[in-house]
Amino acid sequence: MAPRQTARQQQDRETTRIEVRPRRLGLLVGGSGLIGGTIVHYFKKNVPGVELMAPNSKKLSLREPEDIRRYCDKYQPDFIINTAIAAINSDAQLAYEVNYLGAIQLAEIARKRNIPFIHVSSAAVMPPGHDLDESRRLPLTARMSNYAKSKLMAELTLEHMGRHGGLDYTILRLAVVYGKHDHKIQGFHRLLFTIADRSMPVLLTSRGICHSYSHSKKLPPLIHYLLNNREEFSCQTYNFVDQKPVELAELILTIRSYLDLPTPRRIFVPYPVAKTGRTVIFWILRKMSRIGIDARLPAELMFMENFYQSQTLSPARLLNSSYRDPHAEVTVISALPELIEYYITRWQHFRLLSTFNEEFYRPDNGLEEFRQAPELLLEKIHRNRYTV
Ligand SMILES: NC(=O)c1ccc[n+]([C@@H]2O[C@H](COP(=O)([O-])OP(=O)(O)OC[C@H]3O[C@@H](n4cnc5c(N)ncnc54)[C@H](OP(=O)(O)O)[C@@H]3O)[C@@H](O)[C@H]2O)c1
Repeated sequence: MAPRQTARQQQDRETTRIEVRPRRLGLLVGGSGLIGGTIVHYFKKNVPGVELMAPNSKKLSLREPEDIRRYCDKYQPDFIINTAIAAINSDAQLAYEVNYLGAIQLAEIARKRNIPFIHVSSAAVMPPGHDLDESRRLPLTARMSNYAKSKLMAELTLEHMGRHGGLDYTILRLAVVYGKHDHKIQGFHRLLFTIADRSMPVLLTSRGICHSYSHSKKLPPLIHYLLNNREEFSCQTYNFVDQKPVELAELILTIRSYLDLPTPRRIFVPYPVAKTGRTVIFWILRKMSRIGIDARLPAELMFMENFYQSQTLSPARLLNSSYRDPHAEVTVISALPELIEYYITRWQHFRLLSTFNEEFYRPDNGLEEFRQAPELLLEKIHRNRYTV
């Protein structure tokens, strides 16, 4: 047995370590994505003692085990966070290599280096139902979507590595994510886009269907806390969701009313009808591709049955931990005005919305004069000492 260290020896060792590397160095994989980008921003603004490296997938690809090893040998991170995923509708190879093998390669490096590994997972590994706790997982089958299968396998192997190999991991399971900077327009933001673009004439859900939501901005403070409290959070999985689930129809109709639009109308389309409609559109699009017209259904429609099934996650385990969410009062409904302003402005800039009323979010910053009378605007700004 190794001799016990005296307090003095331990302090000396820590002092030596601090002298060698005064800041903790973290590796974040997936930093250009919605979740990863929010984590990078948080650590840069709020955590002076930590430097978070976030190489993009060209610099460090999870599909290249040698890349990962070389990068970690060179920079010797003190912890690893994994928020990378292949596109949600990827084929089996991409989903398997990025979401599963890549995650496991990172975890193995963390295990060998004896450093924490924080892995972001998804409610896609869970069945439908209400108030599901962390133990509720789908059975692993060949017929699952590539996304759900690879995320589920990653969770199972991380647990195995924790139990049998001593990996210090924490899994954070997210539900439907909302937040700024989703530049790929996925999930909830695709729903917002569809309503704003008026391409949802009626409600593709049933009365009373509820889901849990996760705010991307609430996640980084939790990760920061987890990293500083390994004893409590090591080898654990947590649902990371707002406390109360939200009814999908209520959410859609609230967005509609904020946008002051007549659609979607309050007509609930039954699932069999919606499913047939999707099949017909899919068939038409395939025919169109034969004459050179390339159009695709949004990847989210693959998961349309989720609009017709409740899935709400229990937040109890995290609520019963020592962590306190500093923004517990924020929900997807209360965040809507800010999200709508951010995304509508952005989509208008990129001319993505085909039917939206351009007058809706017109900033009062001289933009109209920039369009119509730039010479008057110039004169005004010069007169006002360079303010509008
Ligand atoms: N968004 C949601 O609604 C939602 C819901 C539940 C759970 N989650 C979970 O949250 C996590 C983050 O999702 P997200 O929405 O932030 O995803 P995202 O916006 O699509 O970002 C994916 C990230 O993965 C990186 N990536 C892709 N292939 C890679 C590769 N071969 N090597 C290294 N990096 C690679 C991308 O980097 P490049 O851009 O450089 O390629 C990007 O930074 C995932 O674990 C996901 O399962 C998300």
